[in-house]
Amino acid sequence: MKKFLDIILTFSLAFAMTACGNSEQEVTAENSAATTSTKTSTAVSEKEKSKSESGEENSLKNNTQFNFETKTVTLNSGYEMPIYGLGTYSLTGEECVQSVTAALENGVRLIDTAYMYHNEKSVGEAVRNSGIPREEIFVITKLYPNQFSDPETAIEQALEKLDIEYIDMMLLHHPGTDDVKAYKAMEKAVSEGKIRSVGLSNWYVEELEDFLPQVSITPALVQNEIHPYYQENDVIPYIHDLGIVVQGWYPLGGRGYTKELLGDEVISEIAEAHGKSSAQVILRWNLQKGVVVIPGSSNPDHIKENTELFDFELTDDEMEKINALDRNEKHDWY
Ligand SMILES: NC(=O)c1ccc[n+]([C@@H]2O[C@H](COP(=O)([O-])OP(=O)(O)OC[C@H]3O[C@@H](n4cnc5c(N)ncnc54)[C@H](OP(=O)(O)O)[C@@H]3O)[C@@H](O)[C@H]2O)c1
Repeated sequence: MKKFLDIILTFSLAFAMTACGNSEQEVTAENSAATTSTKTSTAVSEKEKSKSESGEENSLKNNTQFNFETKTVTLNSGYEMPIYGLGTYSLTGEECVQSVTAALENGVRLIDTAYMYHNEKSVGEAVRNSGIPREEIFVITKLYPNQFSDPETAIEQALEKLDIEYIDMMLLHHPGTDDVKAYKAMEKAVSEGKIRSVGLSNWYVEELEDFLPQVSITPALVQNEIHPYYQENDVIPYIHDLGIVVQGWYPLGGRGYTKELLGDEVISEIAEAHGKSSAQVILRWNLQKGVVVIPGSSNPDHIKENTELFDFELTDDEMEKINALDRNEKHDWY
């Protein structure tokens, strides 16, 4: 029954989002010391440390704990990934090159792209031209379901378009026909050194329960919609318990929704108390929940602002106030 309702919801939202032109599908698409080497430090913020010492419940277990000093997390694949980055959905051509360049200049070392964003070439160009050693930058891309039937070709095309020697992380963008086949092709590419880590996007509890027994490599990352109005509080601990890192998309609500979220009274008050912006408070809330953030922006001031997340900490009370904003309100259809 839940599946049936999900399907109905999916189709209604797909229709609504297409009608208002806000669907990701329509796109024609503080200085990080992050590296992709295999460091194994598991230091956490002072608050998280005292929580684990006191045995207090939190969902950060296994290798999903964030290191707030290096601003990285060590993935179950052994690689280190920055805990904040730049999302590139809807950025194409020169705008994408300039945005990624601005991010890299401001210390961002994690870039999220996808076949469906039609910007892998631009991301690759910015990475290659940055002068930053390749191993210090972590690039995520994704295979779209219409590529799952011939995943080997799709992986080669991504490598060619990005042209950055290897892909740090490849995700399946959504569940779909032949997703297991596509994942197995990514596993093979890992063994060949073409891809370093693999993961999933838009996989929730039921989908993971069904999918994981069919594959060999446990995903290193699951990327799902997460923001104060759609918090996934049941899904995040489930994924963490599997030793999988969680990354949130639409951290600021997504285009078309940012005004309401950034103007939210509760968030604005907390922001004022810390002398920070609403965007920074939302991003910090994610980090303290153990969720990696990849806000999208083409504005260099916003890109810089979105890196300044490590000179303040939200109190338990503030975290709870934001947790209480959850409306189970999804802003995209998958
Ligand atoms: N796996 C998936 O299915 C999926 C789906 C959607 C998105 N994603 C990924 O998640 C990333 C994030 O999502 P998104 O970019 O669509 O939405 P978002 O990060 O929630 O919001 C982006 C919007 O916020 C604005 N913004 C960014 N920083 C700001 C700041 N400090 N102050 C005020 N406004 C700010 C941007 O405008 P300006 O350009 O003016 O800064 C842009 O309009 C995407 O780029 C993509 O990489 C993945």
